[in-house]
Amino acid sequence: MGFLAALDRGPTARAALEAMTGAPAQVLARAPGRVNLIGEHTDYNGGAVLPVALPHATWAAASVRTDGRVRVRSLQRRDDEVAVELPSVAACGPGLSPTWAGYAVGVLWTLARAGVPVPGLDLVVDSTVPLGAGLSSSAALECAVGAAVLGVLGRPVAGADADLLVDAAVAAEQQVVGAPTGGMDQAVAVHGRAGHAVHLDFATGAAAARRLVALPLHERGLALLVTDTRVAHALADGGPDAEPVGYAARRADCEEAARLLGVPSLREAVPDAVEALPDGRPRRRARHVVSETARVAAFVAALERDDRRELGRLLAGSHASLRDDMEVSCPELDLAVTAATGAGALGARMTGGGFGGSTVALVDEQSLGLVAAAVDEAFEREGLAAPQHLVVEASDGASWSPV
Ligand code: GLA
Repeated sequence: MGFLAALDRGPTARAALEAMTGAPAQVLARAPGRVNLIGEHTDYNGGAVLPVALPHATWAAASVRTDGRVRVRSLQRRDDEVAVELPSVAACGPGLSPTWAGYAVGVLWTLARAGVPVPGLDLVVDSTVPLGAGLSSSAALECAVGAAVLGVLGRPVAGADADLLVDAAVAAEQQVVGAPTGGMDQAVAVHGRAGHAVHLDFATGAAAARRLVALPLHERGLALLVTDTRVAHALADGGPDAEPVGYAARRADCEEAARLLGVPSLREAVPDAVEALPDGRPRRRARHVVSETARVAAFVAALERDDRRELGRLLAGSHASLRDDMEVSCPELDLAVTAATGAGALGARMTGGGFGGSTVALVDEQSLGLVAAAVDEAFEREGLAAPQHLVVEASDGASWSPV
């Protein structure tokens, strides 16, 4: 058992770009993945979230082309290197195939649409964010490429340009790739800060109100253990009469629940009204969102007063709610949570959209190895492939530097 290292892939991205173009790279940009501490499936319901930027990140090396074309190569899948070439920035919009291309260059199109003079570019990306693990490798990719664009234009990732980058990355995911995600991932990929979690409140819509929350884990002898189960369950629909499945279906359920409750978003729902709904999916989804929103506020308060029992209780409550009411967990996530808690973690829960992916556990620093080993043993006993562990320190959001 080992922990996935957060290596600096900047040099490999830069060397590969220079080999591809035969000329020096101009800019090296970086954007992190994220782990959400608490506040799951709340962002698209006007609720609050509390993510942390990972030390694991995506790098994008970039140089401007004079012919307006766009070429991007990814080193992320060593067994399956991919490259995409497009005739112009205008060709980086909806309908791109494969999906990977949309994540990589969709943000060029959305930035251009927002009035940024995006030039033709050569880009090489590389990453240490595990793919498909619920740790927002896609937002890291969108934001790294977007930061590289700001870089070649000499515009720092700060102030209005940082907000512009978040919006462009969200728009790329929603409009170019077609994934109806909620906005948390891109916001923390840009606004993450070392030593802090980012409290984002989506009450006013996608442009979330932002507040940094100190996360003095090491100072308190604590650590965050993220476990990638390496499981991604297929979300195919089971036919016209089957229950809808997947992230989009959960969003639709929440909208239906808000409609039944007569509120603009589940953020506005109150527990008594939720419990008065007839038994069924809308009631369960609304119950999750309402209880999870309360847990985010309680978690921030418990962090401030270093109440570890309460932090653990809230993580456990979040997991139970995601499993039973939101119905986005799966046996492997449940197993990782049970094993971590059984081995002494203060608390653990699934993190991200669900249906596979990762868990996050709050543990005493000295117990990191023990807890990770207990999860490995549990997986082995069940005949499951070994999970991958990451130790997470809260890190900085997107940035670029000249090469
Ligand atoms: C995915 C989405 C986010 C958020 C989470 C669930 O990561 O991209 O916007 O909805 O799922 O909390």
